This record gives sequence, C-alpha cells and structure tokens, in this order.
Amino acid sequence: MPHSNQTIKPSNNPSWTVPSPEAWSAVAADIAPMLRPGSILALSGPLGAGKTTFVQALAAMLGASRNPKSPTFTMLRTYVVDYHGVTRLLHLDAYRIENEADLLPLDLDEELLESGTILIIEWPEKMPGWLAKHPHQTLEIKIDGEGRRAEIA
Ligand SMILES: Nc1ncnc2c1ncn2[C@@H]1O[C@H](COP(=O)(O)OP(=O)(O)O)[C@@H](O)[C@H]1O
Ligand SMILES: [Mg+2]
Repeated sequence: MPHSNQTIKPSNNPSWTVPSPEAWSAVAADIAPMLRPGSILALSGPLGAGKTTFVQALAAMLGASRNPKSPTFTMLRTYVVDYHGVTRLLHLDAYRIENEADLLPLDLDEELLESGTILIIEWPEKMPGWLAKHPHQTLEIKIDGEGRRAEIA
C-alpha cells in the first residue's frame, strides 16, 4: 500500500499535561508528525477544554502564516499550511450541527480528496454517523484544575 490516509497511531496512548494555553504548542509539535494527507483528528472535550486553542497551535506548528480572515462563526475554516506534504488544514466546528444532514453542504468527502488536506473536528459527538465511516484518531481533552490533560484515545 503506497499511501495510507490514516493517522499514524503510536502503540501506546500518548498523553500530555497542558498547564496553560501556550503549552498546546508542545502537544501540537508531538502530534504534527503523526498526521498524513487525509488524516482526520477528532477533538473531544467539554466547552472551554481548549479545543480551539489546540487547533490554532497546530495550525501554527504546520506553518500557517496567519489565521484566516473569516466571519465570527463559520463551521469550516481553511488554513493554508506547509508541513511534509500537508498543505491544507480544515477546521470544522460542529457545535451547531443539529442533524448530520447539516454537514452535506460542506462537501467534506470532496474536500478531503483535495491533495494535502487534513481535517480537525471540534464537537465530533455531533457527527457520529459520518465519523463511523471515516477512519480517524481522537484527542480527548479534560479540564484538570487550572490546566488541561490531553490523550490520544
Ligand atoms: N491548557 C490550558 N490551560 C489553561 N487554560 C486553557 C488551556 N487551553 C485553553 N485554555 C483557555 O480555556 C478557554 C477556552 O479555550 P477554547 O480553546 O476556546 O476551548 P474550546 O474550544 O474547547 O471550547 C480559553 O480562555 C483558553 O485560553
Ligand atoms: Mg471551540
């Protein structure tokens, strides 16, 4: 098999203590080498866990030059990045999805076919049907006092 779009899964479950918003950079540095074009990473964790903060740290780690200009709320953001063949980071915030049919206009399957694309999903609980059909890894984030814990589940 010359190519696999599946995220490289380490044999143990890596976990991190993330004491501050800035500390997500170190997590992003560890996770970036696990990603391949086509990889899908689900971020689970409650409101305020740090999911969005992690996505921004990951985008920076992958070489995004700036945050994309976009309206206050867009379900799907695109970051142009440059990291070992990964050229596009799609950031889906599924919080407002009420029905998985709401995903259809986003054309996620089509978007993932574009070369170099990875997809990071906040609120994956909103789209269990879609995720069941798409190989992915999950980063579980828990609030731990003032800081956070994160683990590849
Ligand atoms: N590791 C961390 N330790 C402490 N505070 C954090 C950490 N990560 C994020 N935060 C803070 O938590 C708040 C919510 O972060 P956010 O990324 O918006 O969470 P989510 O997207 O999961 O709702 C922000 O004020 C952010 O600065
Ligand atoms: Mg968020």
